[in-house]
Amino acid sequence: MADLLLGQVLSFDGDPFVQGEKAARVSEAVLVDAGRICAVGTAANLRAAHPQARVTDYGKALISAGFVDAHVHYPQTAIIASWGKRLIDWLNQYTFPEEMRFADPAYAVEVAARYFDLALAHGTTSMCSYATIHPASVDAFFDQAQARGLRAFAGKTCMDRNAPEGLRDTAQSAYDDSKALLTKWHGKDRLSYVITPRFSPTSTPEQLAAMGALWREHPDCLMQTHLSEQTDEIAWVKDLFPQSRDYLDTYEAQGLLREGAVYGHAIHLTAREKARLAEAGASVVHCPTSNTFIGSGLFDMGLTQSLRVGLATDTGGGSSFSMLRTMAAAYEVAQLRGQALHPAQLWWLATQGSARALRAEHQIGNIAVGHEADLIVVNLASTPAIEQATRRAEDIWQAIFPTIMLGDDRAIQAVWISGSLVL
Ligand code: GUN
Ligand code: ZN
Repeated sequence: MADLLLGQVLSFDGDPFVQGEKAARVSEAVLVDAGRICAVGTAANLRAAHPQARVTDYGKALISAGFVDAHVHYPQTAIIASWGKRLIDWLNQYTFPEEMRFADPAYAVEVAARYFDLALAHGTTSMCSYATIHPASVDAFFDQAQARGLRAFAGKTCMDRNAPEGLRDTAQSAYDDSKALLTKWHGKDRLSYVITPRFSPTSTPEQLAAMGALWREHPDCLMQTHLSEQTDEIAWVKDLFPQSRDYLDTYEAQGLLREGAVYGHAIHLTAREKARLAEAGASVVHCPTSNTFIGSGLFDMGLTQSLRVGLATDTGGGSSFSMLRTMAAAYEVAQLRGQALHPAQLWWLATQGSARALRAEHQIGNIAVGHEADLIVVNLASTPAIEQATRRAEDIWQAIFPTIMLGDDRAIQAVWISGSLVL
């Protein structure tokens, strides 16, 4: 049966980084049937045209595409908010010991289930995750995503050096395991396999080359990795790859730069790296709560003019599961660089921008006819502090911005996946 949802339906006709707030549109109603968005319009018109549809009236709440988290480490769910110093210390002290625990497939299932419950409660309906080195950690992720009917992306994290015993594969086993997982999961239901070398410091050139070879054999997959997150890391890459022109070149030289490449962080880029990323049609992902939490640096939002830019929590390096908190951090980071991001730009980054970064913008991340019906209902007065701040709102953006700056999972009133109410 078709469902007609009434509320303040937010959708985008264009890119607010190009057209400003005019790229956004607020309608009264959205009609959902057979898992897809069938119509957007006025409540009166859609009621009249679809008298059989079941109507749910969400009043003044915002109805949006579900959030898309373009870079997350689900295995780091349990170590979120661990006190630490810099990236490499944090990896060694918290991340690697925790990722070791995923040698136990039952633990992987437990954390994957917990991660998806948290993600959905925060309104995140699609995500692109790193797993651990263990193939069973990928199975756990996809099994749990499949059970919830989600469009989800992930891959086995490959590392063959500079990681502890027990967390290292080899160039060959990384290729073999990734290929077997890709064959098993890619394109099954709404799931996509992502070729995932962790980052250049933990992969030999041979392993990066093996990932490049696998990607050439499966060109429709995405490839994700980390790029230029911290200055110490960049100096380390320079030592490890003396032949390379820069950090990006360590990937480029092995066939890991083209459309479908998704680089997390991408903060300290050279002019050559920016130009090559744009020429190649690659995506970068802004992880603002992580970049402040681990002290990595201030992402340049100017990259939205030449690249596909997504937004992400990067949990557990990131300090929140909430894309609302992540939008707030993106706003604050941009302010420190002299740019005030409009709420339309922030919301777009968390939905369509991330979907574009994952090359899934025609399926998810917007309320548009034909799109998959992953929707969230956002209460724009979810706490007393937010409610009082919106009382004098004169337009939709003034009504939304307090939720961006102060909101969290309490603002997520309902979640629809593929046209079914799940939360
Ligand atoms: N660089 C390589 N691995 C990681 C990780 O797990 N988290 C973050 N933030 N950066 C990384
Ligand atoms: Zn990461």
